[in-house]
Amino acid sequence: MAVFDVTAVSKTYPGSPPVRALDDVGLTVEEGELVCLLGPSGCGKSTLLEILAGLQEPDTGTVAFGGEPLTGPGSRRIGVVFQDPSLYPWRTVLDNVALGLEIQGVPKERRRAAAAENLSLVGLEGFERKYPHHLSGGMRQRAGIARALATSPQVLLMDEPFGAVDHLTRIQLQADLLRIREHERTTIVFVTHDVGEAVYLADRIVLLSPRPGRVHRVIPNTHPHPRKRGDIAALEQESAIYTELETLER
Ligand SMILES: Nc1ncnc2c1ncn2[C@@H]1O[C@H](COP(=O)(O)OP(=O)(O)O)[C@@H](O)[C@H]1O
Ligand SMILES: [Mg+2]
Repeated sequence: MAVFDVTAVSKTYPGSPPVRALDDVGLTVEEGELVCLLGPSGCGKSTLLEILAGLQEPDTGTVAFGGEPLTGPGSRRIGVVFQDPSLYPWRTVLDNVALGLEIQGVPKERRRAAAAENLSLVGLEGFERKYPHHLSGGMRQRAGIARALATSPQVLLMDEPFGAVDHLTRIQLQADLLRIREHERTTIVFVTHDVGEAVYLADRIVLLSPRPGRVHRVIPNTHPHPRKRGDIAALEQESAIYTELETLER
């Protein structure tokens, strides 16, 4: 059964004039898949991700999560990572990562153990007792990922999570995400406007048209793992997607 089943979802933000963000979007996400939502800025990617997270409701259409209608935010089975990890400055890295478990009422020792385990998974072993201001941007983003993973979600929703870090760190984080995913087998929906990022990460790329966002095409990405930067087949796919984006923007 699909993890997400999105049918005919539309969304318009009120205002004058109103902004039609999504128009008749349909897609499915299967268990264990890494799906990239790729499209130009403003095409409704964040809106769609927020709808998947239950943070927003579509005007029309339906979203099923594991075959059940999605009802509001707060499903423990869904973890979300935004561009800004918003760690609490007064909490240690460990206590930030343990936050979701604390909210769930998991006892202190158990949540600290889980947080430490996930910090080590994202490469932040040894930083448990530091505070967010001690960390670089890339490390803060890793902590945000560890926080989302700590509650063992079935699916991770990520909205341009590496958008604010420098290029080389970004490349490292992308490789780490594939490694983490290999380890955890988490289903991931990853929003990006970076073609190279989508081609490197995705099992399937959902190419969205400019606003209102519609699914222009779903592109399977079968390049074998481990993936290599600058691989000719990947570059050719990138090039084809750039060409397609140009025709869309005209
Ligand atoms: N809360 C909101 N109120 C009004 N307009 C919004 C709101 N959120 C997003 N929009 C508009 O909806 C469109 C899609 O936004 P968004 O989903 O953030 O796109 P993306 O993430 O692809 O850049 C944009 O034109 C944006 O300005
Ligand atoms: Mg966005």
